[in-house]
Amino acid sequence: MNHSYIAGTGSYVPEKIITNFTLEKMIDTSDEWIRTRTGILERRIAQENETTSDLSIKAALSAIEDAKITSGDLDLIITATVTPDMVFPSSSCMIQKNIGAHKAAAFDVAAACSGFIYALNVGDQLIKSGQYKTVMVLGADTLTKIIDWTDRNTCILFGDGAGAVILKSTQEDRGIYSTHLYTDGTLGELLEVRSLRPTSEETLTNRLHYISMKGNELFKVAIKAMTEAIQDVTRSNGIPIDAVDFFIFHQANIRIIQAVAQRLNIPENKIPLTIQKYGNTSTASMPITLDELNKAGKIQPGNTVCFAAFGGGLTWASSLLKW
Ligand code: UT7
Repeated sequence: MNHSYIAGTGSYVPEKIITNFTLEKMIDTSDEWIRTRTGILERRIAQENETTSDLSIKAALSAIEDAKITSGDLDLIITATVTPDMVFPSSSCMIQKNIGAHKAAAFDVAAACSGFIYALNVGDQLIKSGQYKTVMVLGADTLTKIIDWTDRNTCILFGDGAGAVILKSTQEDRGIYSTHLYTDGTLGELLEVRSLRPTSEETLTNRLHYISMKGNELFKVAIKAMTEAIQDVTRSNGIPIDAVDFFIFHQANIRIIQAVAQRLNIPENKIPLTIQKYGNTSTASMPITLDELNKAGKIQPGNTVCFAAFGGGLTWASSLLKW
């Protein structure tokens, strides 16, 4: 039976840094409030002319190098994003063109901050089915382009970035065990960007092109959802939670991560964090965190890694793999 395993990782964040102290000068907030309520110290912001696919291309090339393949080896590119450069062509098509992955089919997946796990699941299944052998899965977003910089409830949270993994087919005892996807569309209004329509006076006045969020309600749902998703994926594979070596969480708020960890008795040293330096990079947060862990040489062959995320939709997801 074919399995898919992660053969390489890559990531990229823009150079421009905005610290909490900079935000103090822009809105009614403080470094202390942001740090203690979210764990964020600073975030990276894409330049005006720097797009999601620009960040993705750099992450993609880094993952290709890490996996010791060439662009021409790729059968498929799937990018999870809610901030593509344009409605179409998709970000994945732009990445395909720019990295010269001539053989690869390419499309995007939209599941907000959970998108990376959704895309990973699609890539994994297409390898398990035997249709493809080498798939690149990306999570990439530039949410700072659609945040309302006058709304202190949201503008302090987000940053931009891209992460990529290369999935390869193997018959060995390694790779993705299973992935679990969940959706509750009835809670969609907790986190939304309303307007995809052409800009009008009405959409501008009502700020419908920007992220709006009921953070407090989302906070509680996120803790419950990710806790249960981790219980599901470990239980269904017969692997106890304390046998998992690393938990790669969507980096939305350090207090959400700590609350899940406390409920499941997960020690801090199993939870790599990047939120303090990048904020919430949406669907990029997990592949970026994984890449930093991988490049630091901290994951060893045979380690068990669990992903867990939640985001707009509402969507949430978990995945378990052997490195
Ligand atoms: O990827 C998914 C994306 N979304 C999330 O992950 C969001 C999940 N939610 C959260 O992370 C948290 O709910 C927030 C960080 C957004 C907010 O933290 P909280 O502890 O839930 O605060 P709150 O919304 O209950 O607000 C507490 C107070 C309020 O003032 P009052 O009403 O108590 O006077 C807010 O107006 O903090 C105020 N506040 C701020 N103060 C200073 C809200 N934002 C700020 C701010 N600076 N930036």
